[in-house]
Amino acid sequence: KAPPGISVDPLRMVGKELKFLTKNIRSLLGSGHPMLDKVAKYYTRSEGKHMRPLLVLLMSQATALAPQAARSSISPPPPPSSLSSLSSSSINDPISSPQVLVDANPDTSPGSKYDFIGDENILPSQRRLAEITELIHTASLLHDDVIDNAVTRRSASSANLQFGNKMAVLAGDFLLGRASVALARLRDPEVTELLATVIANLVEGEFMQLKNTAQDEAHPVFTDDTIDYYLQKTYLKTASLISKSCRAAALLGNSAPEVVDAAYAYGRNLGLAFQLVDDMLDYTVSAVDLGKPAGQDLELGLATAPLLFAWKQNPELGPLVGRKFGREGDVQRAREIVYRSNGVEQTRALAQEYADKAVAAISHFPDSEAKAGLIEMCEKTMKRRK
Ligand code: FPP
Ligand code: MG
Ligand code: MG
Repeated sequence: KAPPGISVDPLRMVGKELKFLTKNIRSLLGSGHPMLDKVAKYYTRSEGKHMRPLLVLLMSQATALAPQAARSSISPPPPPSSLSSLSSSSINDPISSPQVLVDANPDTSPGSKYDFIGDENILPSQRRLAEITELIHTASLLHDDVIDNAVTRRSASSANLQFGNKMAVLAGDFLLGRASVALARLRDPEVTELLATVIANLVEGEFMQLKNTAQDEAHPVFTDDTIDYYLQKTYLKTASLISKSCRAAALLGNSAPEVVDAAYAYGRNLGLAFQLVDDMLDYTVSAVDLGKPAGQDLELGLATAPLLFAWKQNPELGPLVGRKFGREGDVQRAREIVYRSNGVEQTRALAQEYADKAVAAISHFPDSEAKAGLIEMCEKTMKRRK
């Protein structure tokens, strides 16, 4: 505990953990094929926010101090060896040889550069879960940038631009494969099911996004279902990974059922807030600040929260939504209507509601630096500019 008056950064402890995360992720992605190795690791080079792993680590610490489940020992925790690198001989990879996979086979013996004794409130399986969440997220970005025809990501050239669509898609698949192996090695069927469901949910969310509304018409009208459809899509595309990985962190820590549910509720609400803010920033922040092109959603034909709220007050947006802002002048006109409405403010207000619900979800957790960190993540989500 810091003396009174000196503020403690609740994210400091996990910050140390995060330093090793990228190194570990890169070791999980080692491939004997030099080009695949390069493309697969491409998005691990630039600075990501590591929001998902950070949340998993904080949730692991915060739930370690909360009530535990009286869990039977049918599935005992995996021995540490099952968490070692993925390049062991059990991966029957004909083009891999131990030499080329050297960086995929870290020396974890005491005294080595990987000799990292992390926070005692984080289990090795939870640390690995944090890495898995980043792998799945990064895989979805590789695919997303192909779908969205993106040219930049994390303030650099996107992988599809740098290496082409084919390699970007295959690299994403490779990440999912390695994430799945790492997941299987946690030897926890419930956690495996959760994260496998996340992968399906990401695709379902992306499919829902191919349409702006449930109505498949040229002139859709704003109804009570419009926002529900958007929120369902938002859960699948963004909040599913965050909520289910928070839940998985609590499960791996053998938390009591009400703690597991609280972890899930926190992740669900924070995830929804996060994407609402993301959709708001697309209207309010410059490309330079964002590290990726701004104002892209309309260009991509997407009607996100700021536009949907504007549509409620401006029915003339219907036909533009129906044709995905595809006619000359549509994007400009829609943008002006959004700026004249209070769509951006309503989006921010809804995001704040979810952020507040996330904080409320963990209010019963015993006070700790990790809990303060989880609360701070909600505040940061609301204040972020990129
Ligand atoms: C970013 O959204 C993308 C996602 C949150 C998920 C994308 C999911 C897929 C492409 C389905 C395939 C999934 C896997 C696991 C391979 P965005 O385009 O709104 O954000 P951006 O501005 O960061 O590009
Ligand atoms: Mg995109
Ligand atoms: Mg997208």
